[in-house]
Amino acid sequence: MDEFRWEKFIFLRRMLIWMKLPSFLRCSRRDCGRTFDLHDRILACSECGDLLEVVVDPGEIDPCDLKRVWKERRTSWDELDASGVWRFREFLPGYNSAVVTMGEGNVPLVRGRVAAEWADVEDLRFKHLGWNPTGSFKDLGMTAGMTEAKYTGATTVACASTGNTAAALAAYAARGGMKARVYLPAGQASANKLAQALDFGAEVVQISGSFDTALEEMLGGGDRDVYFLNSINPFRIEGQKTAMFELMEQCGWNPPDYLFVPGGNLGNSSAFGKAFIELKQYGFIQRVPKMIIVQAAGANPLARMWRSGTTELEIVAQPETVATAIRIGNPRSWRKAIEAVRFTGGTITDVTDKEIGEAKAAIGQDGIGCEPASATTLAGISKLRKSGEVPRDASIVAVLTGHVLKDTEYIIKRHEELSAQAV
Ligand code: F0G
Repeated sequence: MDEFRWEKFIFLRRMLIWMKLPSFLRCSRRDCGRTFDLHDRILACSECGDLLEVVVDPGEIDPCDLKRVWKERRTSWDELDASGVWRFREFLPGYNSAVVTMGEGNVPLVRGRVAAEWADVEDLRFKHLGWNPTGSFKDLGMTAGMTEAKYTGATTVACASTGNTAAALAAYAARGGMKARVYLPAGQASANKLAQALDFGAEVVQISGSFDTALEEMLGGGDRDVYFLNSINPFRIEGQKTAMFELMEQCGWNPPDYLFVPGGNLGNSSAFGKAFIELKQYGFIQRVPKMIIVQAAGANPLARMWRSGTTELEIVAQPETVATAIRIGNPRSWRKAIEAVRFTGGTITDVTDKEIGEAKAAIGQDGIGCEPASATTLAGISKLRKSGEVPRDASIVAVLTGHVLKDTEYIIKRHEELSAQAV
């Protein structure tokens, strides 16, 4: 074939790959499975009340071809290609309007050396989702959620938040030309995160109580003109799942043995589980990493449930932990998260505030840094190493979810306490 015809052939083939069957919403409860139009603007199944998921059928695809296309896009200056989320758009809902993006994703996988020694493991890498535009993994979900909000004509978007979702929502709403309203538990979000939300122009509503109260109040407000962007919104999950597409790509499509993830409202672990199901189903990977969700001991409803073997979640009424990002007692995505852990053959555990502090310091010693909630991962690795559940020579990836600058007050306070103890 001459060069011109060959290029034309490749172009047509790509066009076929990109042409997808329509996506839709489906109830995530397997024994319900009711379906809805993709753009229905609903957050729960009208039949059983459970959360929804986006179903995307990528059509006829060849994993080898797509892996190459995804990699090639990293050298493109096109706005969609340059986003580490939309680079994987064959597995996302398609839009014929502009997407709201800030080049999120494409974050490195960094080897932990001091941290590995601290946790007594040999092969440890960090996927640092804190190195995103607003400093947390929320940006990955927000580009997808905000694009859907804009597509459906929303003018105001809102979320309840422990801080990071608020910062991401405020930034992406500003980019998308929408008003942002954020509901924060009064005095509980770090000053740095609050400052971001303010700087990006969000209206801040302070709620007395925890994140759980803030979420209830926001949803109970029932303002139909407002588009809600917590992780119960299935479009958020779609964006966040691409972190695992990117991770598998960075691992040469050879998954690590274990993936450690912090657990709060459990949207992220649900998103990662969805990614692994899809990547395996369509032949991108042959096996999946065991996913370990790590919660803070003072905000650990899922870990308690897992240990006790019950089938219903018992809410922690007054969650308490220094890891303010995951100070959550009533995680909404718990069913999806449990399913994800079961699918991967993983487990759920919890760690104390003291363990979180020590693990965070070890990550800092590696020159990487993270916010306290992210350090639950390393603390969890150390705990499961001590119990023998994780072998020393296992390959491990820990997902760091927030930037070290997200909670500077915690760092200063910890060092003041350490100095005081030393004298
Ligand atoms: N790590 C960080 C830094 C977070 O901000 C959060 C959640 C999590 C982990 C837990 O993720 O909820 O998907 O299990 N932060 C939310 C917020 C609740 O409002 O910023 P999850």
